[in-house]
Amino acid sequence: MSEYQELVREINACQKCALSQKRTNAVPGEGSTTADIMFIGEGPGYYEDQQGRPFVGRAGQVLNDLLATIGLKREDVYITNMLKCRPPENRDPLQNEIAACGGYLDRQIKLIAPKVIVTLGRFSFGKFFPGEAISKARGTPRKWGDLWIYPIYHPAAVLHNPRLKPALENDFKRLPELIRSINEPASQEAEGEKEPQQLSMF
Ligand code: URA
Repeated sequence: MSEYQELVREINACQKCALSQKRTNAVPGEGSTTADIMFIGEGPGYYEDQQGRPFVGRAGQVLNDLLATIGLKREDVYITNMLKCRPPENRDPLQNEIAACGGYLDRQIKLIAPKVIVTLGRFSFGKFFPGEAISKARGTPRKWGDLWIYPIYHPAAVLHNPRLKPALENDFKRLPELIRSINEPASQEAEGEKEPQQLSMF
């Protein structure tokens, strides 16, 4: 069994917090385990809990549509959540639940080693940059250790507030350029250049 499969097995058997008692299925995550881009949402909703797959409800449709605008499919990226089990009535994750689940997410990040983590909404952004407002931070990539974090609104936010849609769409459209600008400086740096210039456009 691969390290990734072992991790999925552990998540599916997890009983670290009370959410495990009420779940239909745990939702470990899915997509390419060698992806450049990893999306981190909040936690499973009703349909995700039913199917054991992330982002398969209405928010998932928004995410699929956004991916299509930049020529990507779900299989090209990796999609997961802060919490692997559904909170009752889709309430916000509690700190103890985030803490209990955090080790799984850390292992996913390490195994998949994406170039960019796109945080969907305030909870996953808060894992990396606690206490900052997503409305201010969105659309600007930031370094977190060796990784780039790209905070954007949660797809479900535009279902509740359609006025946020243009910002989410624009932020999404800049993702391919961000990936390109991360890839290019790697070769430039090898040749002794210092600053990844293209990132300045963000
Ligand atoms: N919202 C999330 O944050 N994650 C899902 O998987 C579905 C909806």
